[in-house]
Amino acid sequence: MANYILAICLLTFVLFSKGSSALTNAQNSAVLSTLLSGAIQCFGEHPLSAAEMDAIKNKKTPETENAKCFAACVFKRVGIMDNKGNISGTQAVQNAKKVFDKDSVKKLEDFIGECTKVNNQHVNDGAKGCDRAKLAFPCFVNNAQKYGVSLNF
Ligand SMILES: *[C@@H]1O[C@H](CO)[C@@H](O)[C@H](O)[C@H]1NC(C)=O
Repeated sequence: MANYILAICLLTFVLFSKGSSALTNAQNSAVLSTLLSGAIQCFGEHPLSAAEMDAIKNKKTPETENAKCFAACVFKRVGIMDNKGNISGTQAVQNAKKVFDKDSVKKLEDFIGECTKVNNQHVNDGAKGCDRAKLAFPCFVNNAQKYGVSLNF
């Protein structure tokens, strides 16, 4: 169980901009505990098999319904997907402003903005967002470095 929690913790999108001023320990644990509780809740709703977890850890786009829906759940909880199943940075940016400096928030905003293009693609499951999460996943993975965002799964 401890391993699972650790894996999920890492799985969650921990957005630390490289080279930005370090967060205080209190900020750090506030961010982590928010992410962790969200991820645990998502894992409860969509328990991943070991294979599904490995795939995500290796940044492979989720293919199973379960893994896609887990990703959608995490995206919604970290505020990069709205409750209509569209990618939107509004909530994440609002949250990030509380702990990150201006430059990091801007990078985060641009990073998410880059992937809102997947909102124009057709999906079959609407607000559930599982299909959209699959479309957005490779976009986030492929653009993270460009915006100095490290995705540690
Ligand atoms: C999702 O975003 C697209 C592109 O901006 C928009 O056309 C669509 O109406 C949005 N969907 C919902 C349910 O808001």
